Amino acid sequence: MRGIAHEFPLNDGLIYLNHAAVGVWPRRTAESVKQFADENMQQGAQEYPRWMQCEQSLRRRFARLVGSPSADDIALVKNTSEGLSLIAYGLDWQAGDNIVSTLQEFPSNRIVWESLAGQGVELRQADVSGDDPEEAIIACMDMHTRLLSVSSVQFGNGLRLDLKRLDLACKERGILFCVDAIQSLGALQFDVVGCHADFVVADGHKWMLGPEGVAVFYSHPAAREHLNLCQYGWHMVEHAGDFDRRDWQAAKSARRFEPGSPNMLGIHALDASLSLFEEVGISLIEAEVLKRSEWLTHAMLSDDRLVLLSPSEAGRMSGIVSFRRRDLDAAGHAALYRHLMKAGLICALRCGGIRFSPHFYTPMPQLAQAMAMAATYQPSA
Ligand SMILES: Cc1ncc(COP(=O)(O)O)c(C=O)c1O
Repeated sequence: MRGIAHEFPLNDGLIYLNHAAVGVWPRRTAESVKQFADENMQQGAQEYPRWMQCEQSLRRRFARLVGSPSADDIALVKNTSEGLSLIAYGLDWQAGDNIVSTLQEFPSNRIVWESLAGQGVELRQADVSGDDPEEAIIACMDMHTRLLSVSSVQFGNGLRLDLKRLDLACKERGILFCVDAIQSLGALQFDVVGCHADFVVADGHKWMLGPEGVAVFYSHPAAREHLNLCQYGWHMVEHAGDFDRRDWQAAKSARRFEPGSPNMLGIHALDASLSLFEEVGISLIEAEVLKRSEWLTHAMLSDDRLVLLSPSEAGRMSGIVSFRRRDLDAAGHAALYRHLMKAGLICALRCGGIRFSPHFYTPMPQLAQAMAMAATYQPSA
């Protein structure tokens, strides 16, 4: 971790605890974007083959981050919602089919499934606020369940699900398994082989510290074959770049989900961001993220004025820690949130409370400052 502060020259006085919303770019990412802009200004796409190497490099970095054995399983898409839509509109649904998800999902992982209602497809949402969230999910499954789609970490309170247990339930019943991993990738280790997910989708602008507009869409080769294509273009064919060829087939690899020219600016940026994760190592990053969450959890549990909204058991924790002030109602929390933001504590208003999401580089003393600011705030009369 030596020298890491150099990568994060945040403004003096700013405490950034909002990586579960939009992360901060490391210095190298900002520099890569500036360099790419200059290159475009000075020589256009003269070195396009090098840009294509960067695209391949990002695919490989994503494969390693997800734990996929092959970069061929990685498609570069715009965002999580697009990846989930490729699944929703790629599968052949029968009226009476159902999809299981949770009641606590971010809207990206709900609206897309609700949109299938016109085809007679039901969305079942398990309440995962109880003692056994996986059991609540499994209880919603039946012989008509075709897909389970859950976030590995819930966006509101940071609850981490046991993906291996869910996978087992899916495999026993022949159900496809889709994971929205946006709140995990870049913060926690992920093992797509171990959890046997058929699809994994995640945008790069949160814990991966990249720009908005580039996301990973992993598909297992067998599951990929279940998806009809809904977008077409020169880039998604087996012989992309052979513009004189008239016959075509969709690429065998996940590139088949990428219809046209890639977001090269975003790719350069995210490739730079992920190079930092590989240098530091995702296991060390996870340890540092959890160390911060444990510190915050302990601080919140020790303060009678606060109610912890996040899980405190080791296997359930993530990078997100949310809390409420006992003396404040919803409007009071909105006012507290505005006060913190104005004071330079960047956080989020979620699940009726305040959500903190520091990253591995966040200086530990800032956590104590943040807690003091939140706990001592006095609402104006
Ligand atoms: C669990 C989860 N999924 C998805 C998203 C965002 O989706 P998209 O990448 O489509 O903007 C968020 C953003 O907060 C999220 O928390």
